[in-house]
Amino acid sequence: MATDIHGPVSTVEGPAATPAVRVEGLTRAFDGRPVIDRLDLTLRPGEFTALLGRSGCGKSTLLRVLAGLDRDISGTVLVPKRRAVAFQAPRLMPWKRVWRNVLLGLDGRPDRALAERALNEVGLGHRSGAWPKTLSGGEAQRASLARALVREPDLLLLDEPFGALDALTRIKAQRLVAELWQRRGCAVLLVTHDVDEALLLADRALVMRDGVIAYETPVGLDRPRAVGDPGFGPLRSRLLTELGVDEPAASS
Ligand SMILES: Nc1ncnc2c1ncn2[C@@H]1O[C@H](COP(=O)(O)OP(=O)(O)OP(=O)(O)O)[C@@H](O)[C@H]1O
Ligand SMILES: [Mg+2]
Repeated sequence: MATDIHGPVSTVEGPAATPAVRVEGLTRAFDGRPVIDRLDLTLRPGEFTALLGRSGCGKSTLLRVLAGLDRDISGTVLVPKRRAVAFQAPRLMPWKRVWRNVLLGLDGRPDRALAERALNEVGLGHRSGAWPKTLSGGEAQRASLARALVREPDLLLLDEPFGALDALTRIKAQRLVAELWQRRGCAVLLVTHDVDEALLLADRALVMRDGVIAYETPVGLDRPRAVGDPGFGPLRSRLLTELGVDEPAASS
């Protein structure tokens, strides 16, 4: 059953066999220049997909379309009704306490307990009543994840959510997302610049180039994964090549 929500982006709910996302012939142009150019993409329910690509290739543009934030498109876009997005910058409203930020934009009159359940899931239950400016970068990012989770999404869209975090916090945040994904079972589309991050987390890695998904590979490595696992290196080399990055020659 598909529900039209104005314009060409439609939401779809159906049996598990139907894809979580189906995009066909998607085009988005800015000032007559197509950034997305007849792009096709299918995501399966529960699948974790990483989207890589050089800066400016259109990754965020694609995510915004899937999130329903940009309707100025042509082509077919079918997405689940329940979807949520978290951006690189946590985008918390400074004048609302953390729990109110988590509930922002939800229909009805959701109560604080709902926000706190999501905050507990990301290990932030104790900061529920805090002001956003008192959170660390990693905590703010987790609050942003809680805001996505409270929507119980079938599709979670993450646009470089760990980009601004220090290395250690980033590893913790990656583990958290892996745990949440396994617990929730939603489809995830993660935009990242980090090939290792893609290979640690995803079932499939996509490379966007020239307005389309130019390359994709399954990531069939056992979980939990670590950089340096057997099979990691060749996948990394191939993805770097697809991204136009030459690896330094191995030192002897
Ligand atoms: N609202 C807009 N108006 C005009 N051009 C835009 C707009 N939004 C994006 N663009 C252009 O579309 C192209 C793709 O932008 P997008 O933000 O999707 O890239 P990206 O792949 O997410 O890059 P990055 O990795 O740097 O985040 C860029 O050239 C950008 O300047
Ligand atoms: Mg971007």
